[in-house]
Amino acid sequence: MTRKLFVKTYGCQMNVYDSARMADVLAPLGYGPAERAEDADMVILNTCHIREKASEKVFSELGRLKRLKTARDDGMIIAVAGCVAQAEGEEILRRAPFVDIVLGPQTYHRLPEMVAQASRAGGSVLDTDFPAEPKFDHLPDARADGPAAFLSVQEGCDKFCTFCVVPYTRGAEYSRPRAAILDEARRLVDQGVVEITLLGQNVNGWHGDQGGLAHLIRGLAGIDGLERIRYTTSHPMDMDEALIAVHAEVDKLMPFLHLPVQSGSDRILAAMNRRHDRDDYLRLAERLKAVRPDLALSSDFIVGFPGETDADFADTLALVREVGFVQTYSFKYSARPGTPAAAMPDQVPEPVKEARLAALQALLQAQTETFNRACVGRTMPVLLDRPGRHAGQMLGRSPYMQPVHVDAAAHLAGKVVRLTVTAVHPNSLAAVPAAEGSPR
Ligand code: 5AD
Ligand code: SF4
Repeated sequence: MTRKLFVKTYGCQMNVYDSARMADVLAPLGYGPAERAEDADMVILNTCHIREKASEKVFSELGRLKRLKTARDDGMIIAVAGCVAQAEGEEILRRAPFVDIVLGPQTYHRLPEMVAQASRAGGSVLDTDFPAEPKFDHLPDARADGPAAFLSVQEGCDKFCTFCVVPYTRGAEYSRPRAAILDEARRLVDQGVVEITLLGQNVNGWHGDQGGLAHLIRGLAGIDGLERIRYTTSHPMDMDEALIAVHAEVDKLMPFLHLPVQSGSDRILAAMNRRHDRDDYLRLAERLKAVRPDLALSSDFIVGFPGETDADFADTLALVREVGFVQTYSFKYSARPGTPAAAMPDQVPEPVKEARLAALQALLQAQTETFNRACVGRTMPVLLDRPGRHAGQMLGRSPYMQPVHVDAAAHLAGKVVRLTVTAVHPNSLAAVPAAEGSPR
């Protein structure tokens, strides 16, 4: 019997990876992909708890699913996974008793048992353990879906930034063994994958028996057929000398790094428990660009952290001007239950947060546009991973994650080709195949 599974993913790339792995776990039970919840026998919401807005979406989506389930009356299974499930599992079952399964990010290898139990018992199943056995030891092989793949290498966080729920929802830092990672990478490459993004909440905190992430990246670079390597998300304090050096030495490592700074104010960085100051970050950015001059940085920012003054915010703007970022994510501070910052005095009023966010985003947007315009005339390797909007067009990603479209024959799908950028559009770059012998 074939059954249909619909997974809706919220939040970060780790959730995208986890969603794919949940589908892998359920495939042996006969579940194939559905396009919409309406067509599915089982729906999984893979949720995000990072900000209040993200969490709220779950309950409104559950309201919609409840109507669907009631209307259909054929035993549709509804599961809530991810970080909201981990943090608010009991609350979900209280507010939405029609939910069949609630599972945290560390237990989805047990999904087959949970499905069996939910079908049998009729009641709800709640599993938000942090099991001693790592889920990775119990997952089937990852199936590739296109030429670019995520590979989870590290999970959890021991940093305890005072605003962040991750240490509570994802648990303590855990590094997968190097051999298992290299195996998964080889299997992905055998399926046609040419680009792998290593994932972890603190990916550069990854460590194996013989070294840190630098050692792992060198190992991956040795895999024939793997052409591009990325890693995300990194903490500034875990950018060690060896990792900086890898950016100079390993060609396959893309010259693009997501290195969140959050704030440019020393006072706020300290209150955030970021463990580095403004100057540490500036020097780190300099060192990275010194070893890899074409490296571009991306970052996350929070405005309106408790106690943030106009002067603190001005420090953030000044840092942005000094470093120069090509792609960024910026957020209004959102108080999360149970985190130290939620209980801090001097919470910043909403209108102030809004004004600061607008000012910051205007500056960041201008930097992104300047960078995009400077790409015109440059020739870069682009991984063509999707058909474009128009017939005969392909869409790809530059080393800097810019979407690039080009008129290309479909046989180039899944390949890295050298393109020369010809124009900047609002959400993409236009390019043409590079002339023979043009420089990189
Ligand atoms: N409020 C706003 N933004 C947050 N982030 C994490 N926690 C919060 C919060 N409580 C942001 C950080 C982090 C990104 C993934 O989300 O910038 O790097
Ligand atoms: Fe959250 Fe800080 Fe850990 Fe990142 S490093 S996951 S922001 S606690």
